[in-house]
Amino acid sequence: MPNLFKSLISRGDDDEELDLEFDLANPENDCFELPPDRRDNQVLAVWGSPSSGKTIMSVKLARYIASQKKNVILVLADMSAPPLPYVCPPSDLEAETSLGNILGAAHVDENLIKHNAILHKKNEYLTMLAMLKGENAFSYAPYTETQARELILELRKMCDYIIIDCTSNITNDALSAVSLIESDAVLRLVSCDLKSISYLNSQLPLLLDNKFNANKQYKAASNVDEFQADENIEQVVGGVSFKIPHSDEVYKQFLAGNLFGGLTEKDSKDFRKAVSKIANEVFELC
Ligand SMILES: Nc1ncnc2c1ncn2[C@@H]1O[C@H](COP(=O)(O)OP(=O)(O)OP(=O)(O)O)[C@@H](O)[C@H]1O
Ligand SMILES: [Mg+2]
Repeated sequence: MPNLFKSLISRGDDDEELDLEFDLANPENDCFELPPDRRDNQVLAVWGSPSSGKTIMSVKLARYIASQKKNVILVLADMSAPPLPYVCPPSDLEAETSLGNILGAAHVDENLIKHNAILHKKNEYLTMLAMLKGENAFSYAPYTETQARELILELRKMCDYIIIDCTSNITNDALSAVSLIESDAVLRLVSCDLKSISYLNSQLPLLLDNKFNANKQYKAASNVDEFQADENIEQVVGGVSFKIPHSDEVYKQFLAGNLFGGLTEKDSKDFRKAVSKIANEVFELC
């Protein structure tokens, strides 16, 4: 395990172990079934298996919250495939400045964040922090968990709704790993296939440290297709708080690089419902 991740999890106060494995035979035994206490959720980390729709859901949640005229900050933490170029056209954005400038600084404060925040021209309630097109983890001075923690701490002072789109592989991504620790809630997405289950069963032991509070996790079956019958999903994924259906319109938006667009087609109805349900339950918007 790389040192950075190891250092993050080696400072727990006690050694209490959590049973984090998906139990294929007895999904009812999965310890993530109970929804977390959601009264004070301000920071939501979206995490889960690769390609499960984390970025899509993060964008859609941010859009939904902004549509309620509430300020929201969306942090796109992926440094290996920076999402900004595929979530919206550059013409929709005010000046593009990078999350790398924030994390690469010796100390993260509000001014630095504001200076490097990306504003969306069509939505005054939405602010993004993101790596830019062509950048990667080595484009800026290396950062540690200190900057990642400072960033989340400062964001808490600035905004009531913060969504962090994490990378699946937290072992070499400090911002995603710290986000799972520091967030108030984690939305854990899993695609309904054995590869995704295998991925999570492999990664979840890394989160055994009690800093990764299992009680704050909401599980969601993601990108569920109509041929994936409900009972099979329950069996494969275990108990889930939410089901996020596949939507062709969402997929088209992904292909077009326009995920902030509205969803109008009939077959997106259930996807839209899932987004509002998650936002309302996690953040108690109603
Ligand atoms: N609900 C959905 N409806 C339609 N397509 C979906 C849905 N959820 C995910 N997808 C498809 O899954 C793919 C991955 O989506 P996305 O990039 O949001 O996943 P991710 O979990 O962020 O991936 P990564 O692990 O690379 O960060 C895309 O092709 C996307 O269109
Ligand atoms: Mg992603």
